[in-house]
Amino acid sequence: MSEPLPTTNAELFARGQKVIPGGVNSPVRAFRSVGGTPYFVASGSGARVTDVEGRVFIDLVQSYGAIIAGHAHPRIVEAIRNAVGDGTSFGAPTPREVQLAEAISERVPSCEKVRMVNSGTEATMSVIRVARGATGRAKLLKFAGNYHGHSDGLLVSGGTAMASLGIPASAGVTANAIADTVVAPYNVVPTLDESFAAVIVEPCAANMGLVPPAPGFLEGLRAECDRVGALLIFDEVITGFRVARGGAQALLGVRPDLTAFGKIIGGGLPVGAFGGRAELMDNLAPLGPVYQAGTLSGNPLATAAGLAALELLDDDAYALITSRAECLAGAFANAFAAAGITVQVPRFASLVGLFFGADAPTNYESACTTDEALYAAFFHALLERDIAIAPGAYEVMFPGLAHDDATLTAIADAAHAAALRVAQQL
Ligand SMILES: Cc1ncc(COP(=O)(O)O)c(C=O)c1O
Repeated sequence: MSEPLPTTNAELFARGQKVIPGGVNSPVRAFRSVGGTPYFVASGSGARVTDVEGRVFIDLVQSYGAIIAGHAHPRIVEAIRNAVGDGTSFGAPTPREVQLAEAISERVPSCEKVRMVNSGTEATMSVIRVARGATGRAKLLKFAGNYHGHSDGLLVSGGTAMASLGIPASAGVTANAIADTVVAPYNVVPTLDESFAAVIVEPCAANMGLVPPAPGFLEGLRAECDRVGALLIFDEVITGFRVARGGAQALLGVRPDLTAFGKIIGGGLPVGAFGGRAELMDNLAPLGPVYQAGTLSGNPLATAAGLAALELLDDDAYALITSRAECLAGAFANAFAAAGITVQVPRFASLVGLFFGADAPTNYESACTTDEALYAAFFHALLERDIAIAPGAYEVMFPGLAHDDATLTAIADAAHAAALRVAQQL
């Protein structure tokens, strides 16, 4: 029997650090860039999480976007409960895999065929393999500050935790692994040539703070890819099923060849997926020569949770979440204006960012000029007032269906007091 678990965050963190590197299973959770001890979540309900010490926070992290209907949404919990008694993994196809692929394909018409995987990282890694297999070309273009998960070939200039920790790429990634990855500045249409298999892009960048696409950028990418016969890949791991029913591609009217998904389509369970035109996707084994596989892919619990999540998300739901995001962005902007602190609060549909600087960033270089110390001070001032935003200056906020008017008012009040507190510390 293992020892009973401690009931304070500090003790749990100390114990965790002995057996888990940094005490966390994903780096940004460790609070390194904001300082302090992470809160250990005991439970979540709707817009709120409760830590092991019994403190309740209004949560704008929402599992970095995996949750959109609030924690432990009754319909999603019920779907998982109903599924779990039937077994958790089989190594044979299960009916809901077909349903989830249909649900994705129906909502995102560019995805005629879909394959399920277990994380966003797997989705981007695999979709790039399809692009290379289909084109017979090697090179991949990615944009600085766009994060596409932690597979070797994509771990260059990836924003978020890497930005907070000041890690330009990663030890352990060889020069060979990234030799075919070309990095270009976001929001500028690059000039390609026939050696490029694909361009991968976050259609709205959400891993260097929030940097929406400049007008014409994605259209320009589409045209440049078509000019040289390269494939356009949208990484919609964050934007997919969050900014609109059909994702960013529906909202912005640009059709990629291939798309990577994650987060929302698992309803909070580990998941990823990628899809695209049938003729491209049919390159995958067992039909074609591009190998890709997964013991737990299309997992019966993840597909149950994902389907339940998608069913909650009709056009009205997106309109509601977007109006809440507007409200949230307005509240933050007002709070800082009242405190005399210069801030930009960019918003793209339901995604909201915070940038401490004079001009809204348009690329990684400008995003990196955010005042990280100010973010850290604001983060802690908010946390003291029971509001949790991400412990990293390059993350975004994820208001969702559970952030109702009363919750938004509580956030606005706390943001006001927190901004004034930060201003006093300057
Ligand atoms: C745009 C984007 N792509 C890919 C990933 C990787 O997803 P995962 O963490 O599920 O591996 C993330 C994770 O945050 C992401 O934001």
